[in-house]
Amino acid sequence: MTSQDHLTQSYDIAASQWRTKIEGLGYAAAYRWMIAACGLRTQHAHAIDVGCGTGDFSRALIEVAGPPKCLTLLDPAEQMVATATRSLTHIAPDLKPVVAGLEDAVKHPHDIILCAHVIEHFSDPCAALALLGTQLAPDGKLLLIVSKPHWCNWIIWVRWRHRMIRPTRMLEYFAQTGLSCEWDAPFLAGPPSRSSHAYLVTHQRKTPQ
Ligand SMILES: C[S@@+](CC[C@H](N)C(=O)[O-])C[C@H]1O[C@@H](n2cnc3c(N)ncnc32)[C@H](O)[C@@H]1O
Repeated sequence: MTSQDHLTQSYDIAASQWRTKIEGLGYAAAYRWMIAACGLRTQHAHAIDVGCGTGDFSRALIEVAGPPKCLTLLDPAEQMVATATRSLTHIAPDLKPVVAGLEDAVKHPHDIILCAHVIEHFSDPCAALALLGTQLAPDGKLLLIVSKPHWCNWIIWVRWRHRMIRPTRMLEYFAQTGLSCEWDAPFLAGPPSRSSHAYLVTHQRKTPQ
């Protein structure tokens, strides 16, 4: 069994309790705050939630900005995708559940990519960012949330063995992968303010010759 298989099995087991934890610890509220702060437009948008878990980042998108034209829920953990699909089916008009990792996803230009607490599971987070770039339309927006160094995160690390990446390092990764950070911020309160950092990312603009 690969380490990815082990991780997927652990997330499958966690799926039934995940949404309760995300809400109880304040992450759902933090996701809503981020989407409002980014001023996203969802009309006509093709969106994808990479590593969707139980779909809570997507739910925040729909609640704050309205449903996108279509929404792909991508996660290698089958139980996560099934739970997310059940939770969102009545509020999202065109849902596409896909059980796969980012590395195996069919390339399609998305106007909006949501990706919360996923790239820190990759052995090379910069390679994961490059993969996200291949899924992003030329004028698309990537809403990325990544764990940062804080003692609170070591409690989570005991269970999930995830990476913690400094915002300064993330800016280096964006530059290396042809991406550009339009906005970034810590979360305002509670566990998200200690564990995570938010980024709004686009493709680097080509300067006219
Ligand atoms: C910390 S959870 C976050 C879930 C959700 N984004 C949220 O914020 O609640 C990480 C998720 O990433 C998924 N994941 C793990 N490896 C992945 C990969 N290679 N590609 C895409 N998703 C992956 C896991 O199955 C899990 O659902």
